[in-house]
Amino acid sequence: MPHEAQIARRRSFAIISHPDAGKTTLTEKLLLYGGAVALAGSVTARKNQRATTSDWMELEKQRGISVSSTVLQFEYKDSVVNLLDTPGHKDFSEDTYRVLTAVDAAIMVVDAGKGIEAQTRKLFEVCRRRGVPIFTFMNKLDRPAREPLTLLDELETVLGIGACAINWPLGLGQQFRGVYDRRKKDVHLFERTVHGAYRAPEKVGGLDDDFVAQHTVPEALEQAKMELEMLDGAGHAYDRTKIDRGELTPVFFGSASNNFGVQMLLDGFLELAPPPEARMAADGRVIEPTAEGFSGFVFKIQANMDPRHRDRMSFVRIVSGKFERDMQVTHTRTGKLVRLANSQKLFAQDRETVNEAYAGDVVGIVGNHGFGIGDTLATDPKLKFDEIPRFAPEVFAYLHNPSTAHYKRFRDGLEQLLSEGVVQQFIQPHAGQRVPLLGAVGPLQFEVVQFRLESEYNAQSRLENAPYTVLRWVRTKDGGAIEDFDIPSGVATAQDSEERWVVFFSDQWAINYFERRNPNAELSEIPWDE
Ligand code: G4P
Repeated sequence: MPHEAQIARRRSFAIISHPDAGKTTLTEKLLLYGGAVALAGSVTARKNQRATTSDWMELEKQRGISVSSTVLQFEYKDSVVNLLDTPGHKDFSEDTYRVLTAVDAAIMVVDAGKGIEAQTRKLFEVCRRRGVPIFTFMNKLDRPAREPLTLLDELETVLGIGACAINWPLGLGQQFRGVYDRRKKDVHLFERTVHGAYRAPEKVGGLDDDFVAQHTVPEALEQAKMELEMLDGAGHAYDRTKIDRGELTPVFFGSASNNFGVQMLLDGFLELAPPPEARMAADGRVIEPTAEGFSGFVFKIQANMDPRHRDRMSFVRIVSGKFERDMQVTHTRTGKLVRLANSQKLFAQDRETVNEAYAGDVVGIVGNHGFGIGDTLATDPKLKFDEIPRFAPEVFAYLHNPSTAHYKRFRDGLEQLLSEGVVQQFIQPHAGQRVPLLGAVGPLQFEVVQFRLESEYNAQSRLENAPYTVLRWVRTKDGGAIEDFDIPSGVATAQDSEERWVVFFSDQWAINYFERRNPNAELSEIPWDE
């Protein structure tokens, strides 16, 4: 198959949602309909039972949360689908943000009974800032749900995005019987199956068919017809350009656990979502996916996924060119040449060697190459992508090593976890600091650090909360020395891993006070060069 065709048939996306909206269920059903699994239940089984390959996933099991992200690839009809899984818990939103840099589109799952929830809103903002096209799945229509028109309205008023319904529900809650496909103008009626484990049987007909009237609740059908008329008259028209720009979200209604509307979502999404697009390099060059030279960036690193091997996997999103196993590329941050010998793709916990891959795909490179999150691998040694944003942590703690005899284990483990970006470390050079000061977006990240230090490096640790809640990067307006600042008590300065100065505060009041005392200081929520 020609290179262009390989790229054109790829769809790389993530599913975003507030916890419990149905992301795991939908993932599983997309795999079911995509033909990647024969019987739904495997993903949830993973979620619930976690026949885990690595000890620290015990933590996920204990907490019932998903910490690690995996990438699922499958072929469906003519498409190659890359589904990048993201952790749902808000404490791991940094991890989720990084994954979102690697996708070309997102499916936002909304619990139709609850509407737009906080975490959905946050993740939506990240997608919007990046201009990622967003598709909406209104889930759980089989349960008491908000009126579909209200839900569309909420997308507009709460998220500020135009909504264009691709299908429309016939009834809600107990009366939910199926959906009307507005583009094809046909009705898909569903029957419930036991636990929704197999594909839901469908019957297709027109909105005015007797068959449809027989199988729907008359008032619900009437109401749907009325709403559809209103939509035709006053709703947002389907507009591909606006979808591509992330200004309009195509909306699909359904019920993931009952398989209602999942096939339509999959087909509609694959048809409407964009293939891999060009990305801008740090120097302003536009790198087309069809460009000959290979390029990609690391968006996730994870060690010890399989404790028997103690390996380290760097997940690389391919931006251009063709990946071939054993190829040589430059790790452009260090200028070193590396051979990408051990390349793998994952399917849930299984791995498979990748011999070739294209723009849009994700390959896992196994080995200790010294890659860091955000690093570029390319045949062009000058190429650098600047895709991964850094987030200001919001919780801070000192991590003590209670056993001097095991200092090396403690240090090695921490270094590894820092390189994975699980937490950030700050150094207070002037304070002669020996205990690492760590910053995280949420406290569960600290728990992961402690858990993994112990289970993977056999290193104990003790956490001491630091009395700060806000971090700002700082510089002087006149280029003077940071050391000359007047530091009030309760405020501390330190440097991040790239020796950029930061200041820690206990609250907003402390920031204002610091700014008044130091008119020469300029503060920022993100590092200056990002
Ligand atoms: P998440 O990954 O977004 O956190 O959500 P998840 O898929 O785990 O779904 C959360 C709960 O919502 C699950 O119930 C799931 O079965 C249920 N759910 C998902 N889609 C639908 C739907 O379309 N209709 C209804 N009625 N429920 C849905 P649970 O009780 O937590 O788990 P389980 O007992 O079903 O395994």
